[in-house]
Amino acid sequence: MPKRYKDIAGDGGSNIERQVSEQHARLHARLAEVRAIVAVVSGKGGVGKSSLTANLAASWALEGRRVGVLDADLNGPSMATMLGVRGRRLVVGAEGVTPPEGALGVRVMSMDLLLPSDDAPLVWEAPTQAESHTWRGAMEANALREFLADTAWGALDVLLLDLPPGTDRLVTVASLLPTLSGTIVVTIPSEVAHLVVRKSITIAAQAKAPVLGLVENMAGLFPGPSGVDLAREAGIPFLGAVPFDPALAAAADLGEPLVASAPTCEAARALTAIARTVAAALARAGAPAPRAPRPA
Ligand SMILES: Nc1ncnc2c1ncn2[C@@H]1O[C@H](COP(=O)(O)OP(=O)(O)O)[C@@H](O)[C@H]1O
Ligand SMILES: [Mg+2]
Repeated sequence: MPKRYKDIAGDGGSNIERQVSEQHARLHARLAEVRAIVAVVSGKGGVGKSSLTANLAASWALEGRRVGVLDADLNGPSMATMLGVRGRRLVVGAEGVTPPEGALGVRVMSMDLLLPSDDAPLVWEAPTQAESHTWRGAMEANALREFLADTAWGALDVLLLDLPPGTDRLVTVASLLPTLSGTIVVTIPSEVAHLVVRKSITIAAQAKAPVLGLVENMAGLFPGPSGVDLAREAGIPFLGAVPFDPALAAAADLGEPLVASAPTCEAARALTAIARTVAAALARAGAPAPRAPRPA
């Protein structure tokens, strides 16, 4: 019988260590054929991390790259919608869970595909209310480890990770991965966002992966400070500005990334240019393939 996330949590700890180390080995093996892993981060929610992830994935897929997306936002998953696999059943076989292919063949794994209904939230059941906070962090890490260990991505040129908001989430995710090729930080032109995003850049810079750069999304929507200045102050590359465009949101809701459905509009051109810049930065960095684990 397949084990469930709560089974791992609920065995009183007796088997956790062995299960975790087995999963860890499986996870390394799964990712051995993934050439680059890129995380999209921002301390701030609602700035466009998921929109950028979906459009980067689609841009690269349009150029013939094999792309996977792991929706690491367990509480607010949106990749299944944005890449058009909402409601698709997961196929579980001997090889693990096969991620459904969405727009342009992008392989998607998301909590959305596991929850029983659209309005069902993900609830971690802590043994006591007082423990619920630490419990949640540990359970999130467990669930992500299990996602990564159980998903049969196959060979991928790049696996994109769409992270939840929160400055510290990257640390958890990076600790689960054999290697992370780079991070992309997203902001919007507002002082409040910049305050939070500065912290994200600090954390990203401490991760074991290069910060590939900063994207300014919803450019022109707010009269706020410029992303170019923030990138310069932080000493990271500025990858480009994506204008506010309701068509981007509409395309996301339809599961058809804008770069594919309306490639000539300004927002799509900006996103495509960012995808090319990131691909070039990855190639320069050598984007080393994750190494297989050493035999125990
Ligand atoms: N440049 C943009 N123009 C118009 N709407 C956008 C733009 N970027 C994102 N959105 C919309 O804003 C909302 C939040 O974006 P999302 O990508 O989900 O942010 P995050 O993942 O950072 O929480 C979504 O409804 C999305 O469609
Ligand atoms: Mg999101």
